[in-house]
Amino acid sequence: MAIYQLGRSVFGHPENAGNLMTIEEAHALLEDWVPNERLRLHMKQVAAVMKAWAIEKENADPKTALKWELAGLLHDADWEKFPDDHCRVIIEELERRQIDPDVIHCIASHGPKYFGVEPENSMDKMIYVFDEISSLIHAYSLMRPGGYDGMDVKGVKKRLKEKSFASNVSRDDINDAISRIDTPLEDIIQFIIDHQPSVQ
Ligand SMILES: [Fe+2]
Repeated sequence: MAIYQLGRSVFGHPENAGNLMTIEEAHALLEDWVPNERLRLHMKQVAAVMKAWAIEKENADPKTALKWELAGLLHDADWEKFPDDHCRVIIEELERRQIDPDVIHCIASHGPKYFGVEPENSMDKMIYVFDEISSLIHAYSLMRPGGYDGMDVKGVKKRLKEKSFASNVSRDDINDAISRIDTPLEDIIQFIIDHQPSVQ
């Protein structure tokens, strides 16, 4: 596994606080940078659960919810075209566009082991939590005849224990991410089951 240490912990500029892009602009960036439909879907799924969590659990106002959504939507935007420079390229692009430093820091901290950036606030911690579990739950939906219909937490936990299932999903990262928040894994799984199916 490549290690993409970013070698810094400050991202963006405080002067750009509150500078966001629209969801349409973020989608346009994805269309441009991410030809792989599956990878685009993954980012849309993480964005949807991030946004829902911000609104339902953090009482976020619309602008804050948009920050969470944008971080989710763009966190792997450079993965396909710049596999050896994953995270650095999208971070530099968002800095060039003078985007809010919270969004950039959130993206930079979505894999502390790989990028060397620790999640600080709850937006950072939740992207780390959702990223891998969301992928595993989606993979599980694809092998179930009913997709997400009737999916339950128990079934997801079984798949998590099966190391060979969606083996690219790091169980270590999931455990580490969950250890940093107060919400139990079961509640996170249920939240994703509730909010992910509608994403297309
Ligand atoms: Fe991801």
